[in-house]
Amino acid sequence: MNLHGTSRIGDNQHLWIGGLDTVELAKKYGTPLYLYDLSLIKNRASGFKKAFEENGVGYQVAYASKAFSSIAMFQIIEQEGLSLDVVSGGELYTALQAGFPPERIHFHGNNKSLAELEFALSAGVGCIVVDNFHEISLLKMMSSKLNKKIDILLRLTPGIEAHTHDYIITGQEDSKFGFDLGNGQGDKALQEVLAFEGFRVLGIHCHIGSQIFETEGFTLAIEKLFGHFKKWEENYSYFPSVVNLGGGFGIQYTSEDTPLSPEQYVSAMIEEVKKQMIHFEGQDLPELWIEPGRSLVGDAGTTIYSIGSQKEIEGVRHYVSIDGGMTDNIRPALYQAKYEAFVANKMNAELTQTVSIAGKCCESGDMLIWDIDLPEVCDHDFLAVSCTGAYGYSMASNYNRIQRPAVVFVENGEEQLVVKRETYEDLIKNDVPLKSNVFV
Ligand code: LLP
Repeated sequence: MNLHGTSRIGDNQHLWIGGLDTVELAKKYGTPLYLYDLSLIKNRASGFKKAFEENGVGYQVAYASKAFSSIAMFQIIEQEGLSLDVVSGGELYTALQAGFPPERIHFHGNNKSLAELEFALSAGVGCIVVDNFHEISLLKMMSSKLNKKIDILLRLTPGIEAHTHDYIITGQEDSKFGFDLGNGQGDKALQEVLAFEGFRVLGIHCHIGSQIFETEGFTLAIEKLFGHFKKWEENYSYFPSVVNLGGGFGIQYTSEDTPLSPEQYVSAMIEEVKKQMIHFEGQDLPELWIEPGRSLVGDAGTTIYSIGSQKEIEGVRHYVSIDGGMTDNIRPALYQAKYEAFVANKMNAELTQTVSIAGKCCESGDMLIWDIDLPEVCDHDFLAVSCTGAYGYSMASNYNRIQRPAVVFVENGEEQLVVKRETYEDLIKNDVPLKSNVFV
């Protein structure tokens, strides 16, 4: 049993998080219920910051808000002194509603609309991470129209793709994101943005993957980028003052996962950048930015479900159904993601059976966990699935017209509801009934 952050087993054999009994929280707020362990989020945030500060490197740690966004979440990120990566008008709107300082917001995306770019520029975001030539044209037009200089990073695809323990080196990356370094798009984009005086080209961005357990992918990407910067320095007298290395730092969903600490990832990056700087006499070390999403909120999240029906097929499988599923966590169905779970009100009970946890959607692929050892369970029990904090709630849907769950933050014995459970009324709020005289 892998207990994350402040999770522990209470004297009453229940799972406690943030000094609170999760069973009591489930009874109070209903299920499915997302709980976030704020101490764990804050710990990770300071781990990332500390690694830069101890090395005396200028930095920004921008929370990749796609992992989980809500007004309260953005307020925590603000309090922790982090920056924010948003990828849509909706994420930006939420951040602004949370009072997040716009100058600490970085706007991402491979197909930002004109309206989104206008929104971002009028809000005064810190920088736009430019992804493609179409966006360069839109931004040129807007800079001229608004008579405003726009701070940009160029998103590059360096031809390094990292996945957990593997990294793939390709000459030219087949990716919808960014300007490819291998085929000359990166050089062409740089020349174009440098030639336009409405841009301040702060530097570059690259993101090599997600749920990465090694540092090699990052150091290879740095090596490749800086090799290219040498050409840029020689050919265009340009050297970036910001190098954003994206996110992707892994977390431990199950015992098979072996992530490093924030400090280990960051130190390896800094070491490699410093190594590369030997080739750039007279240039200052660029500011290093990173964009952790999963590693800030992933293992801080736990979902509590109520156990309902069970179906035993002799010699085949024992299904245990819960009151949520792919609508609140699509990752098992979409990525075959693996999770650990406990019975929140029977934490020390003997594991006597192997069962599979089924969601309640009308879809046989709606399985949360295959073959997990649990104690005997009944319909008064609560199942706690750990590490659901990233890409869980944020990817939730209303499939089968199931309401999205509530979200509660916990810390030091205190709790606060931060996202209300959807109601049936919420489900139909955008529906427009037919007018009596049409389609008849
Ligand atoms: N920066 C950029 C440009 C990204 O595209 C991403 C994630 C991040 C930062 C944050 O990566 P993280 O630190 O969270 O790994 N839905 C998938 C993950 C998609 C990640 C997309 N980009 C999942 O549930 O595993």
